[in-house]
Amino acid sequence: MTLTISVPATSANLGPGFDSIGLAVSRFLRIEVLQPLDKWLIHHDLGPDVPDDEKNLLIQTALQVEPNLTPHEIKMTSDIPLARGLGSSSSVIVAGIELANQLAHLSLSDAEKLAIASQVEGHPDNVAPAILGGLVIAHSDGCDTHYVAANMPETGLLAFIPDYELKTSDSRNALPDSFAYKDSVAASSVANVAIAALLTGDMTLAGKLMSQDKFHEPYRRHLVPEFEKIRDIASEKGAYVTYLSGAGPTVMVLAATEKIKLIKSALESLQLPGQLVELSVDTIGVKVEN
Ligand code: HSE
Repeated sequence: MTLTISVPATSANLGPGFDSIGLAVSRFLRIEVLQPLDKWLIHHDLGPDVPDDEKNLLIQTALQVEPNLTPHEIKMTSDIPLARGLGSSSSVIVAGIELANQLAHLSLSDAEKLAIASQVEGHPDNVAPAILGGLVIAHSDGCDTHYVAANMPETGLLAFIPDYELKTSDSRNALPDSFAYKDSVAASSVANVAIAALLTGDMTLAGKLMSQDKFHEPYRRHLVPEFEKIRDIASEKGAYVTYLSGAGPTVMVLAATEKIKLIKSALESLQLPGQLVELSVDTIGVKVEN
């Protein structure tokens, strides 16, 4: 049987968990490892900007982990949209680490995979849930990586995925260079209560605090003109929270599962430029089948 690796999409930040919290969701990158070849060859339909040889991020990452891998023919498929704030590049990085892990029989632990992935990506919020599934809170200082993997409380997820891309670098450029001491104390206290509420299963309180992010959303919202309309309607219909997924532009609404259809149909009437997609939490993370 062919070796296959699948990695879920991820929604990072969840409001105030900037660069440190992420949730695995039900869209997937899938890698099929076919026959050995002289050179790496990747079959994909992700467009001409994505390399089909060893320059592909998948192979670049795998070779960082183990430089002496035998090249293979690989089939790559993904329904994680690119540059939309759903962790598409993190999914490729995690798949690359797993590819090296499998081909070179490295027996990497989850913590080792996460340390490598955080270094490659620069922050752990997408790669951690892509590896572990579920809700993960992680910190990496470039040297050590610490994490807590947790169950996401019961919630429905509705994503508005715009038709346009937003590069993470552009979205990060919108952030301030510095943050006053008092503001950071206030911002981290919002985050602390949001996380405590998530970990104790109180989605109503979590949603309230997640809505009060001070680290990134206030600086980025203008990049996603649909955000405020979606938030206002979702909130009117009883959603827990509307937040910018990762660096955007995807907007994520969390609400009790029985309210999702109602919120979706209210948002459909706005005819916004993008797709409204119901998602679920992926609790597995990276998965290998042999
Ligand atoms: N935490 C990151 C950001 C996620 O918001 O910029 C995207 O890489």
